[in-house]
Amino acid sequence: MSESAVLAGKVAIVTGAGGGIGRAYAKGLAEAGAAVVLADVKAEAAEAVEQELTKAGHQVLAVRTDVSDEASVDAMAATAAERFGSVDILVNNAALMAEIVGKGALTTMDLDLWHTTLGVNLTGPLLCTRAVVPYMKKRGYGKIVNQSSGGAFMGANAYGITKLGLVSMTLSLARELAPFGIRVNAIAPGNVNTEAGALSSPPQLRAMVEATVPFPFGEPEDLVPGLLYLVSPGSDWVTGHTLNIDGGWIPRT
Ligand SMILES: NC(=O)c1ccc[n+]([C@@H]2O[C@H](COP(=O)([O-])OP(=O)(O)OC[C@H]3O[C@@H](n4cnc5c(N)ncnc54)[C@H](O)[C@@H]3O)[C@@H](O)[C@H]2O)c1
Repeated sequence: MSESAVLAGKVAIVTGAGGGIGRAYAKGLAEAGAAVVLADVKAEAAEAVEQELTKAGHQVLAVRTDVSDEASVDAMAATAAERFGSVDILVNNAALMAEIVGKGALTTMDLDLWHTTLGVNLTGPLLCTRAVVPYMKKRGYGKIVNQSSGGAFMGANAYGITKLGLVSMTLSLARELAPFGIRVNAIAPGNVNTEAGALSSPPQLRAMVEATVPFPFGEPEDLVPGLLYLVSPGSDWVTGHTLNIDGGWIPRT
């Protein structure tokens, strides 16, 4: 990796890096020069990505992590700092999506599933943030990106509530962490071609998206330039922002 790579010397954590968008994020960050911790509850999936990226010459480490479990998250952050020296970038990408989208209306859905979803999708990003902030504070600098969703803005039941909650968490954390040089932003993707994305959108929804969205479906790689912007020095004057990368799905001003 050349010394001039934009993220050379930086250490990043990507949660949910065992596949789909998380894998693309990890690959993009590694190609930009960062050492990347691949944190996923599915250890084998994270290890497969570790193998792939190591083979390509990148510095990566798979760490089995349950983002909804404080002890697991703290241990992962400590491992990242021990192995690579500190933590500069956190990408809160892990979430339950296919597991929850379409699994019931708010007034009738299983309450255990509600609590599990909030635990992974909302408490998870908060726990990961709390775990890395001490390292970022020491450096007086850091970049945190929360993975929201277009679903946040269209009434997508429990899933949408967690993703809109992340937009609000991004605003609060942006203010709270600015004194320490830490920027906090979010990405709200549209319909991305991943296995989980396909499982979450029944044929009628896909047909509707196809008919109404200017650029209906994207690939995980379409999100990477936006992520790289939000974790690079070029976006240092940007915080609290949610970046829609969605082919024009959710018009917002
Ligand atoms: N695919 C889409 O169309 C789409 C659209 C908008 C937003 N998103 C968001 O993008 C992110 C990734 O989506 P994806 O399509 O790659 O889905 P995915 O299901 O492939 O990825 C989620 C990853 O998170 C991991 N994970 C789940 N629970 C975890 C836990 N408790 N601890 C640690 N890791 C855990 C899973 O093992 C998986 O690897 C999610 O936040 C999702 O909500 C996806």
